[in-house]
Amino acid sequence: MAVSKIAVLGAGLMGHGIAQVAAQFAKVEVYLTDSDQELLDRGVKMIESSLERFVKSGDLSPDESAHIRDRIHPVISLCDAVRDVDLVIEAVPEDMALKRRLLSEVEKKIRKDTIIVSNTSSLSITMLAKATKRPEKFCGMHFFNPPQLMKLVEVVRGAQTSDVTVQVVKELAERMGKDAVVVRKDAPGFIVNRILVPALSEAIALVQEGVADPEDIDKAIKLGLNWPMGPLELSDYIGLDTVLAMSRVVSKATKKRARGTSLLRKMIKSGSLGRKAGKGFFDWSEKR
Ligand code: 3HC
Repeated sequence: MAVSKIAVLGAGLMGHGIAQVAAQFAKVEVYLTDSDQELLDRGVKMIESSLERFVKSGDLSPDESAHIRDRIHPVISLCDAVRDVDLVIEAVPEDMALKRRLLSEVEKKIRKDTIIVSNTSSLSITMLAKATKRPEKFCGMHFFNPPQLMKLVEVVRGAQTSDVTVQVVKELAERMGKDAVVVRKDAPGFIVNRILVPALSEAIALVQEGVADPEDIDKAIKLGLNWPMGPLELSDYIGLDTVLAMSRVVSKATKKRARGTSLLRKMIKSGSLGRKAGKGFFDWSEKR
């Protein structure tokens, strides 16, 4: 299926950027909606100011920017937004009950062949899919903030997601100028947030314990690990409420791991010590 019309539900921090890259790079028609006219207007303003930044930096001409804006249709009615689209992207706050309510509402208003994806940062795709009657046409499509600049999309399979759905969503991500990775199992936090969220939580714990000033914690990680933003600045950027929501989910999968995993101990025992031994998770023998 070649996707040519999509709906984005939620015009907030992620939704506005997702709508923009869909119109800008994949050149699809985008119906952007929100539960509140004020939030929808704010999302459109954020898109316009982002387009202005691309024009200012010479990445877009004023004409191209106007065409992109024309492909984005802000509509307050959920029914008008989703009625005739090929794919729906849900990007509302990280609240399982809210998302499930919205998804079952959407299910009643869309065509039989429409695919639904969620931009959830850590909630279970399988659980979200259960709010619809089309779990095989449902998966995660997880963008990173800011969606206009970050290159990655995680395509996350739920327990019943079909291969065709994964393929269509992966292709759309690529048309949007992204590199897609497929997450084969619906695990808490998928790949990136499973690794990122414990790091953000530890940075916050360092502040709580008075170990160092927030400025020094961020400086240490920026210079010590070459992160573009420190973990506390990044937490502010993501939104602290979202960080807490993700921590609750991801900690279910990570809390037993403080003393190392059994896989790590097994690899060390077999001599796989990493680059210095010529093998670790990757084969380093050529590069030694
Ligand atoms: N739209 C258009 N252009 C934008 C923009 C936007 N929204 N934001 C920034 N830009 C442009 C700027 O105008 C600037 O253009 P110029 O080079 O022509 O002047 C250029 O991008 C660089 O911007 P800045 O100078 O303001 O800032 P940086 O060079 O520091 O880059 C950044 C900004 C890419 C956000 C960088 O700081 C970064 O990579 N930070 C880390 C972001 C990150 O880790 N995101 C993932 C968060 S986790 C997540 O999203 C998961 C979710 O589930 C919570």
